[in-house]
Amino acid sequence: MTSSQRASRIEIRRRSREGGPFARLAEDVRRGLTKTRKELPPKYFYDARGAELFEQISELPEYYLTRTEHALLAQIADPVVASFRPTTLVEFGSGSSRKTRILLDAIARAGLLDLYVPIDVSEEMLRQTAHALGENYPGLRIHGVIGDFEEHVEALPEGGPRLIIFLGSTIGNLTPDEATGFLRNVARVLAPQDRFLLGTDLVKEVDVLERAYNDTAGVTATFNRNILSVINQRLNAHFDLDRFDHSAFYNREESRIEMHLVARESHRVAIGAIDLTVDFSKGESIRTEISCKYTQAMVEAMLEKAGLRMTRWDTDTNHFFALSLSAALH
Ligand code: SAH
Ligand code: TRP
Repeated sequence: MTSSQRASRIEIRRRSREGGPFARLAEDVRRGLTKTRKELPPKYFYDARGAELFEQISELPEYYLTRTEHALLAQIADPVVASFRPTTLVEFGSGSSRKTRILLDAIARAGLLDLYVPIDVSEEMLRQTAHALGENYPGLRIHGVIGDFEEHVEALPEGGPRLIIFLGSTIGNLTPDEATGFLRNVARVLAPQDRFLLGTDLVKEVDVLERAYNDTAGVTATFNRNILSVINQRLNAHFDLDRFDHSAFYNREESRIEMHLVARESHRVAIGAIDLTVDFSKGESIRTEISCKYTQAMVEAMLEKAGLRMTRWDTDTNHFFALSLSAALH
């Protein structure tokens, strides 16, 4: 194959009406940092550096999620593919697509592999990943989409059957209302022959949960503070990262890990591009992330509320993580 043929198999599009993943940063930062309880939307973690830091998190000894989900995928990939014979794989929040390769391999083994559509806000990671996959899967068409999965679920490719995947318990980073909204969009675009594969982290011992978000190497703390350098760079802000401590704890009532940045002392931060100054008192925090933890009943209820029917549930022997397969109810 010539390099031009190779290039045409890989297309990366930016969702046009949006103007890029950081288009709303200014208004989101203003809204989040003028609230009584300050917060920031987690999608802004993932500039090139943030995406790279998340890759490091996924390999930490304390961070059991990625490796547990990886092993589960390896167990179920062939039977899942055999059950409805997908030709197209669509992935929301694809990141490095490392675990995705297990599914691509299984679809290829069945002789069905045609199209992969990774969707992610992280442009550099998406481009890099698409080209690496292009090298490793010579017959595969790759149509990457740089965009927000909360806004662009409708843009699915024709054909199929399609396997739509949402891994890494990224669903847990959405509020319950946002998660339902997202899943409703998935249900709406799912044809009867399509399936939706969802990765969810499960409720477990608090120590295990809290360790996963407080690694001893401090990578998660660096990742957490990275959201402030994104704002510094893109909005001409003057956050001093050393004035914030990383804090992550399990909130049992809400069944979720919460991640915060806590001001070490009272101070004021100027955000030049939006002409805003933000005051922090000592100990005041910005909530930067939630990560919901589920039981099987919670996942089933969430899917059903959105118009999806679970057809398969797989978990590891520790019941740390689960993969569920669903079809549209309609
Ligand atoms: N699926 C990978 C990566 C998980 S990290 C895994 O399981 O390891 C979450 C990924 O979702 C990141 O790549 C991030 O850039 C992307 N992401 C987060 N919020 C997003 C949004 N609103 N729209 C699209 N992608 C998003
Ligand atoms: N979906 C991942 C999770 O909830 C995202 C994540 C992992 C994360 N570690 C993080 C997000 C640390 C922010 C900070 O586990």
